[in-house]
Amino acid sequence: MNILIIGSGGREHAIGLALKQSSLKTNLFFAPGNAGTSNCGKNINIKETQLDQLLEFAQKNNITITFVGPEAPLVLGIVDLFKKHNCTIIGPSKTAAQLEGSKQWSKQLMKKYNIPTAAFETFTNFNTAKDYLLTTNTYPIVIKADGLAAGKGVTVAQTEAEAITALEDCFLNNKFSTAGHKVIIEECLVGQEASIFAFTDGKTMLPMIPAQDHKAIYNGDKGPNTGGMGAYCPAPIVTSELQQTINKTIFQPLLQAFQAENLDYTGIVFAGLMISPSNQINVIEFNVRFGDPETQVVLPCLETDLVAIFKAITQKNLSSIQLKWKQVSTVCVVMASGGYPGSYEKNKVIKGLDLINNDCHIIHAGTKQTDDQLVTNGGRVLGVVGQHSELKTAISTTYNAVKNITFDKAYHRTDIGFKAL
Ligand code: AMP
Ligand code: GLY
Repeated sequence: MNILIIGSGGREHAIGLALKQSSLKTNLFFAPGNAGTSNCGKNINIKETQLDQLLEFAQKNNITITFVGPEAPLVLGIVDLFKKHNCTIIGPSKTAAQLEGSKQWSKQLMKKYNIPTAAFETFTNFNTAKDYLLTTNTYPIVIKADGLAAGKGVTVAQTEAEAITALEDCFLNNKFSTAGHKVIIEECLVGQEASIFAFTDGKTMLPMIPAQDHKAIYNGDKGPNTGGMGAYCPAPIVTSELQQTINKTIFQPLLQAFQAENLDYTGIVFAGLMISPSNQINVIEFNVRFGDPETQVVLPCLETDLVAIFKAITQKNLSSIQLKWKQVSTVCVVMASGGYPGSYEKNKVIKGLDLINNDCHIIHAGTKQTDDQLVTNGGRVLGVVGQHSELKTAISTTYNAVKNITFDKAYHRTDIGFKAL
């Protein structure tokens, strides 16, 4: 069976490795992929947003299933395009992808179906939004660009000045282009965050084990947000009791919403959650895809065959699958280029991957293979993933492996997973 995976990050490499564990034989193609994905399949030189070229490739190469890693092609409508041409693809339609593509659309859906989320107001011009801030006068408060902003569209403003700067960036400085011409101002939630993914075929929702991301660049969750500097799972803050509550109050109502609103949704739902000190759960946001780097820790714990799950999703037969999980903890430490999430240099030679033992593996993200060398090619370069029955040992095993890997100006956080100990 030929499977096309769209994307080029660590997430897509992790998906490829999980598919390769299957008892079903697969040929994997990655568009465009990275140096790691070329070791478990074939990289195709088509960007994730070149929808027509992706369709043409799938048609010409007998692709049985296309799986979309990142949000951008989904929000652009890749699923509608493939389905129109009878190509099997996993993901939500363009309309349903607004669950991630428009925060206002998503929040309204949550409100309509009683899915717990922070109170919010929507604004389409600077003055009204500013007046609202001045009247409300409660800080911290959260300002969000409505559309996709590569993870940079959210400001948790501690003061009026910060909040007004965020509004200026959206409305007056065009920082996020049209994505920032509509703004959500919402109540600031407190607590610990967790990421829970679910597989869905539109009829059944199968939640996965909870993970925790580390978004800030520095230890102790300090400094600017990144795409994610590391993750671990399962996250003990989400007890099995809380998991049941989350399924009942979040995933099941969302499934009902898909059905009642006639939304064509298959694939992954990603619930970004805030868990308060008294265990109140709110949805911070939904994403329509796997998270990165959470996928790098969740999929290695999955015992169920991922190819069988993908097949069941496309056949709308997901109720036949029961997810099984290994009783282990998994940790991923991201190694980044110095300077990230600001500017950074590329083409630094990466050394030491051959020194990694069997208890860890490497997930490539911003890497590139030249004729004879592996070099850096992005902000988040690679992830080191370690697994053990004890989280503490999984963390130390992973960090021992990190020590072996070098490239000029390499940076990583040294506290991934510590929150759970
Ligand atoms: P998002 O892009 O919506 O995931 O937001 C990025 C980050 O901003 C989240 O991971 C949270 O840390 C923070 N955030 C977003 N919304 C809220 C909120 N209502 N209250 C507190 N923090 C928030
Ligand atoms: N790790 C968070 C995300 O993928 O959006």
